[in-house]
Amino acid sequence: MTDALLRCSKLSKSYQDGNNEVTVLKDIDFNLQAGEMVAVVGTSGSGKSTLLHLLGGLDKASGGQLFYKTDEMTHWKADKLAQWRNQNLGFVYQFHHLLPEFSALENVAMPQMIAGKSPAEAKRQAKQLLARVGLEHRLSHRPAQLSGGERQRVAIARAFVNKPQIVLADEPTGNLDGEAAESIYQLMLELNKETNTAFIVVTHDLHLAEQLQRVEVLKNGVLHKEED
Ligand SMILES: Nc1ncnc2c1ncn2[C@@H]1O[C@H](COP(=O)(O)OP(=O)(O)O)[C@@H](O)[C@H]1O
Ligand SMILES: [Mg+2]
Repeated sequence: MTDALLRCSKLSKSYQDGNNEVTVLKDIDFNLQAGEMVAVVGTSGSGKSTLLHLLGGLDKASGGQLFYKTDEMTHWKADKLAQWRNQNLGFVYQFHHLLPEFSALENVAMPQMIAGKSPAEAKRQAKQLLARVGLEHRLSHRPAQLSGGERQRVAIARAFVNKPQIVLADEPTGNLDGEAAESIYQLMLELNKETNTAFIVVTHDLHLAEQLQRVEVLKNGVLHKEED
C-alpha cells in the first residue's frame, strides 16, 4: 500500500462539560489515499463535523496522531497548519458561506486575489471554474439570487481554486432537496475523476454516501466500515 495522503491514528476528542468529560471520538484510525472518495456517515451529533475539523487541522485532537503523507502534523503550530490548509485543502460546508454582497464570480475569485493573484487572472480562473460547475450563465448573480443547489456549486468552485489535493465537505447537500443533492454528488464524482482530488464527504444520508467508493460509519465515537 502506498502512503496515505491523510491519515490519523488513535485520534480522540473529548470536551469538558462542567466536571464531566464527554468523549466524542475514540481512537479513530482513518486513512485517505490520493484521489479517493470517502463518505463518513453518522446521525446528528455523532461527531462527523468534529472529525472533519480534526482531519483538516481546524481543531486540535485530545489524543492520537495526524499525518499528511509521511509528515506528522499532530503538533504543528497554527500558522503552519493554516499554510498547509491553503495549499492542500478545499472546504465545502452545509451553508455555503458565500459573501452575500459579492457576485458568484467575485466569491470564487476572492481567495485567489487574497493569495496575491492579479484580479484579471483570478477572475479568468473563477470564470473557468464556474463554467465547469455549470454556472457560466450566473457569473454576476449574488448568492441571494441563486438557488440552493447553485450556491453549493459556487461553493464547490471556490473550494477548487487552489487546486487542492483534498476537499473536505461537511453535509454539502444538507440543505438541498433530493434532486439538487443528487446532482451535487454527481458533480463531486465528476470533479474527482477529472482532477483526482480526494474527497471526504460527511453526510447523514446513507443513500447519497453509497455513491462514493468507500463508506465509513461513525457511531458511539467509533469509526467502522459500513456493514454489507
Ligand atoms: N465546542 C464544543 N464543546 C462541547 N461539545 C461539543 C463542541 N463541539 C461539538 N460538541 C459535541 O460533540 C458532539 C458531536 O458534534 P458534531 O461533531 O458537531 O456532530 P455531527 O457533525 O455528527 O452532527 C455533539 O454531542 C456536540 O454537542
Ligand atoms: Mg455536523
